[in-house]
Amino acid sequence: MYEVREAPIGVFDSGVGGLTVVREIMRQIPQERIVYFGDTARVPYGTKSRDTVIRYSRQIVRFLKTRNVKAIVIACNTASAYALETLQEETDLPMIGVVKPGARVASRASTGGKIGVIATEATVGSHIYREYIQGLKPESKVFEKACPLFVSLVEEGWLKDPITEAVAQRYLQEMKELHIDTLILGCTHYPLIQSTVRKVIGEEVALINPAYETAIELRELLKREKIDNQEHHKIEKNPYEFFVSDAAERFKTFANSILDYDITNTRQINIEEY
Ligand code: DGL
Repeated sequence: MYEVREAPIGVFDSGVGGLTVVREIMRQIPQERIVYFGDTARVPYGTKSRDTVIRYSRQIVRFLKTRNVKAIVIACNTASAYALETLQEETDLPMIGVVKPGARVASRASTGGKIGVIATEATVGSHIYREYIQGLKPESKVFEKACPLFVSLVEEGWLKDPITEAVAQRYLQEMKELHIDTLILGCTHYPLIQSTVRKVIGEEVALINPAYETAIELRELLKREKIDNQEHHKIEKNPYEFFVSDAAERFKTFANSILDYDITNTRQINIEEY
């Protein structure tokens, strides 16, 4: 009999960035299957309008539902900022984004109440991190900065390159002058350049990767909804499936460079059909 507990979790992002969230889910809840969709044909989302990001995200949710997922993780800060609420209202599946978990852990970690957020233009413009953080701790001061070039540098694979460091110096100068005590990596690409950001911002600033807390929240959600996969149901064969809207080979190479799991198959689909 078909058992919903054994169904996969749908995870999506505008491209490869969401793999940092997949990596955490794989580590923290290895008994869960995953269907990942990366919208590689339409990336970046961070420069697009709210309406466009909602439309794209809606299509992806429709696609993931055809794969019989039991829950959905929006592993993209921009889509979480713009589309999570709308999609939660429209969809009967449990769904979480990465922004709330990131905001929660940052407000816990911050000792002096001065929190920096680096993210895409869209996420920064939505002020969603500020809203959540100040909802939790009203006295917090939140400073937001768009760092759009980081996405291209990560996609180029220049994770520890001097050019990436120079760009980080320029973007983070303001945060250094503001003496923040905590910095949220508010774009799913940014954890991949965490060591460069660390080098530039200094040891004393707590760096927050929302992916870690998102995996914890997902585990709790699955338990609460009684749809968590039981250890004895562990799926041995093809537990992880990857779909993209373009350039499947390029995605696969990138994914294999950051995941512990060896991806052998990535399928391209026409997302506009959904
Ligand atoms: N994955 C996106 C995010 O977390 C960044 C890349 C994009 O602009 O699409 O906001």
